[in-house]
Amino acid sequence: MSTEFENMKAYIAFGETDVTHIRALAEELSSAVPDIVARFYEAITQHDELNAFFSGGATQLAHQRTLLTSWLSELFSGPYDDSYYQKRRRIGEAHVRVGLEQRHMFLGIELIWQGIIRNLISPASTTTRTQLTSLHKLLMLDLSVILESYKEHYTARVQEDARATIEEKLTRAEHLAEIGQLAAALAHEIKNPLAGISGAIQIIREGMAENDEHRPIITEILGQIHRLDATVKDLLQYARPVPPRLHSIRLHEVVDRVLSILRAEPAVKRVRIRYNPPSQGVVLQADEAKIEQLLINLILNAAHASEESGIVDVETSSNNGDVLLCIHDVGEGMTEEVRNRALEAFYTTKARGTGLGLPICRRIVEQHGGTISLDSQVGQGTTVTVTLPVTAGDQTST
Ligand SMILES: Nc1ncnc2c1ncn2[C@@H]1O[C@H](COP(=O)(O)OP(=O)(O)O)[C@@H](O)[C@H]1O
Ligand SMILES: [Mg+2]
Repeated sequence: MSTEFENMKAYIAFGETDVTHIRALAEELSSAVPDIVARFYEAITQHDELNAFFSGGATQLAHQRTLLTSWLSELFSGPYDDSYYQKRRRIGEAHVRVGLEQRHMFLGIELIWQGIIRNLISPASTTTRTQLTSLHKLLMLDLSVILESYKEHYTARVQEDARATIEEKLTRAEHLAEIGQLAAALAHEIKNPLAGISGAIQIIREGMAENDEHRPIITEILGQIHRLDATVKDLLQYARPVPPRLHSIRLHEVVDRVLSILRAEPAVKRVRIRYNPPSQGVVLQADEAKIEQLLINLILNAAHASEESGIVDVETSSNNGDVLLCIHDVGEGMTEEVRNRALEAFYTTKARGTGLGLPICRRIVEQHGGTISLDSQVGQGTTVTVTLPVTAGDQTST
């Protein structure tokens, strides 16, 4: 005998007397079942939320009616023993399986109670108050069993979902670490020959006549090499991060310098970048080269996302020991999916992207003890907000 079930019965003093009361009503109850069932489904199919569970149409509804009919017959006939208990537990399990909420079980029992009252309290009926009390106890007992099993199965499902998510993340992290190592090794192998090729081609170009028809091709090759070199540098920087060297830097001056470097970039030439440094300047403890890299990556992304002559706003300010840096564009924006994944290594939506720009930014910001967040809406634009502590303190560098 299940002790849980016995405890539940003891709790509400459900005993032999109650069973006798319910038996006495057997005939009346069994003739009430069709009406209770009919009214039950009439009531619940009026609600869209519940209708969604009967997408199978008339056949499914007929099946549900049969289930409820046998459910009620078992309820009214007992015996209320261990095998009854185990059977009733399956109802809770089924509710979890189809995704019903706990409240549906409370409300379902209430509907059945209303059906019982309607059928058993009529002028012709001889039902007594004590008999009804026993029936009510029985319904509450049933609800307790169903809820107990609902909770167990629901918890198991939540734990299973959580475990699956963690497992997926782990596999992903391992996978990325492997790619990272491979990429670093590859980048390292590519770096030196690339510098050699670039040097050799520059020598060839210098030896060419000013009007040589092959000059544009050579220039194109050098452009491509430059791009390759930048990708390789990104890869190395991501895969082999160097701890930051902190100095007192003037952020407004770094922004100005980055903007003048970037003006030569084709993507940046197409847009208008606005920057109004605050009058008192913004000073903080940081690694200047890394902050430059951060600004370059964010401004380039903003420019890439913008339309011809779109506006990109750069803002810097200090507030309460934090420095705030915002890069705002009114470009294409990101979908929820892209925004959620944009900071992941190797995630890119660009044909020629590396997917390393934002992960490098995140690492730089974290090395300084700051935060980075993305706010974006498709077709509206994107704001990247970076906060950096004015004094980076003793950030453990990674
Ligand atoms: N300002 C922005 N506007 C719209 N999308 C952006 C912006 N910045 C980043 N993204 C999205 O995030 C992705 C990852 O960016 P990033 O890590 O810099 O890699 P990459 O630029 O090489 O694609 C981009 O491919 C793009 O889809
Ligand atoms: Mg980028």
